[in-house]
Amino acid sequence: MELPGNNTQIDTWNTSMFLYNSALKEIGTRIDILNDEFLNIHKYNPIEHVKSRIKTPESIVKKLKRNGYEVTIENMLRHINDIAGIRIICSFTSDIYRIADMIAGQSDINVLTIKDYIKEPKDNGYKSYHMIVSIPIFLSDKVVEAKVEIQIRTIAMDFWASLEHKIYYKFEGQAPDDIIDALRECSDIVSILDERMLLLNNRIKDYKNNGED
Ligand code: GTP
Ligand code: MG
Repeated sequence: MELPGNNTQIDTWNTSMFLYNSALKEIGTRIDILNDEFLNIHKYNPIEHVKSRIKTPESIVKKLKRNGYEVTIENMLRHINDIAGIRIICSFTSDIYRIADMIAGQSDINVLTIKDYIKEPKDNGYKSYHMIVSIPIFLSDKVVEAKVEIQIRTIAMDFWASLEHKIYYKFEGQAPDDIIDALRECSDIVSILDERMLLLNNRIKDYKNNGED
């Protein structure tokens, strides 16, 4: 990013990054608590793992330019919704919606947008559930809202997305047709696998319940 030119800009930049980091901590803790509560009540972990990241200045600049905005901190704050990003990896598709509902149900979290690429996968086969939310950050003298992008997906969807990501970069977005086709086919297999694993898990749960009754 063009370095912030004066002290005011440096202050704004530092404050913004501090807020995005705080937002990641807030959301991270809420997700941890939901997972622990779930484990406590239902004796299982809906969440396999969670990854979070702050977007690099380089990719903030790239995205602003790609979307036709002048590179300014103001445009970044207004137009880039994924500076703070958190990815939640679940075992089963049903857990995705459960977690999304639990997050959306928190009284001080505002859901700004939802993109359900599970119900409507992208043409390349990408599947994941995306939410942009805003969460309050309680500072010493005021409360400010910060935006976070939350991506929720299964282990299988995540496996697919990381390979697709590698391929995308390797071919700079111009992968050969046979590779694009193979990726789409793998995406269909991911859906089948997710569905079968869910059914299998439900059968196991029934067995356990019957055994205990
Ligand atoms: P970006 O400009 O890429 O952030 O997309 P967007 O603002 O239109 O939002 P979208 O919800 O479509 O995508 C947000 C994020 O989801 C991306 O930054 C990626 O992390 C992930 N994502 C979206 N599409 C794909 C895809 O086709 N493949 C992979 N591997 N990840 C994707
Ligand atoms: Mg992004």
